[in-house]
Amino acid sequence: MGKLFYGTMTGNTAAVADSIQAALADLVDESKCIDRAKADDLRACDLLILGGSTWGDGELTDDWVDFLPQLDQIDFSGKTVALFGVGDQVSYTYNFVSAMKILYDKVIERGARVIARNVSVEGFEFAHSESIVDGAFIGLVIDEMNEPDLTQARIESWAQAVRQEAPVAIA
Ligand SMILES: Cc1cc2nc3c(=O)[nH]c(=O)nc-3n(C[C@H](O)[C@H](O)[C@H](O)COP(=O)(O)O)c2cc1C
Repeated sequence: MGKLFYGTMTGNTAAVADSIQAALADLVDESKCIDRAKADDLRACDLLILGGSTWGDGELTDDWVDFLPQLDQIDFSGKTVALFGVGDQVSYTYNFVSAMKILYDKVIERGARVIARNVSVEGFEFAHSESIVDGAFIGLVIDEMNEPDLTQARIESWAQAVRQEAPVAIA
């Protein structure tokens, strides 16, 4: 079974993370804030859903920043990772969900295979995001501030991609 670990500053992402875990309950049995996680919790999983909100100007939340040295101690080769980002495309249009790219670069550097990383930018209006590779978002994108009513459909559609791309052995 996989696990989900998230970062948050004011709690918005906790509810999003719980909804993602529920949509992937066949593959993911726990949703936990990264400030309560240990490196061994991540080492124990073949499938990891990692994400959180973007703060500052395109930065990770403090809980992820504190955990980064531990991420550097984890060998992700053989692990499958799917990423999600929570942001605000109106107020932070020049760095919409940019922090997701920091996690993406890190897990790829550590050897992970990232799945469900071809998420359409259609339906969002923003000036710039670091989290776009080859014209698509590298993971699920959620905007609870401006489009909360689209959250569940976005989660469910992305969960299908995760399910299709996850190795059969994980289920
Ligand atoms: C000070 C501040 C900085 C922010 N910076 C960004 C940003 O650079 N990019 C972005 O997409 N959203 C940004 N946001 C929006 C948050 O990511 C958004 O409000 C999110 O829902 C917060 O989730 P959380 O409560 O889980 O931390 C920022 C919000 C605040 C208050």
